Amino acid sequence: MRTALLAVAALLLLAGCREAADDPAINKASPKDAPVFPVTDDNPAARTPAAAAPATREEALKLMHERHEAMEDIGDATKALGRELKASAPDLTAVRTHAATIARLAPEVSRWFPTGTGPDVGKTRAKPEIWQKPEDFAAKTRAFQAAARSFDATARAGDVAAIKASFGELGKACKACHDPYRAPNGH
Ligand code: HEC
Repeated sequence: MRTALLAVAALLLLAGCREAADDPAINKASPKDAPVFPVTDDNPAARTPAAAAPATREEALKLMHERHEAMEDIGDATKALGRELKASAPDLTAVRTHAATIARLAPEVSRWFPTGTGPDVGKTRAKPEIWQKPEDFAAKTRAFQAAARSFDATARAGDVAAIKASFGELGKACKACHDPYRAPNGH
């Protein structure tokens, strides 16, 4: 079963999604309800190259709201980590929970900023520069995702000094994106 899924994933990689999905032989090879194409962070084929622009203004506003809420969750987790890691004996269970939250949300950043979700559409701190320098923004996103994965792995390993160092790197990755791409809080 696992082997079958891997084989299907490999075929999809070779054939390209659309052709493979249309191929009845491949569809038959996968059990009906099983995820044919597991969306995981290390599956390069599952990554969206560039998120499609929302079809309607309503959809755009919905996505902007979602990203705002999720960024707040990332922010809350980061604040809690900052407090925890200042303690003389940090609670590693709490640290791991917050690290996992950030690692879970980090891959989502890739689909939060399609064209048509800027300040001309609705209230947001996302700067127009995001869509003027898409390659640089994507690079900052990838650097953050790598830092989030690495921090999560370090937190699970449990060496407090290493966790603190990795948390510092994570914070730099937030700042490297916020400085050029997030407007100061206007409210
Ligand atoms: C690739 C760019 C990027 C990275 C990396 C990033 N952010 Fe953000 N963040 C943004 C942008 C852009 C906004 C403004 C979003 C909006 O208002 O629509 C934002 C908003 C926020 C907000 C305010 C909520 C809001 O929507 O105004 C918080 C809190 C936040 N980020 C925390 C973090 C933390 C903590 C990290 C790192 C652990 C991080 N961000 C990493 C781009 C980024």
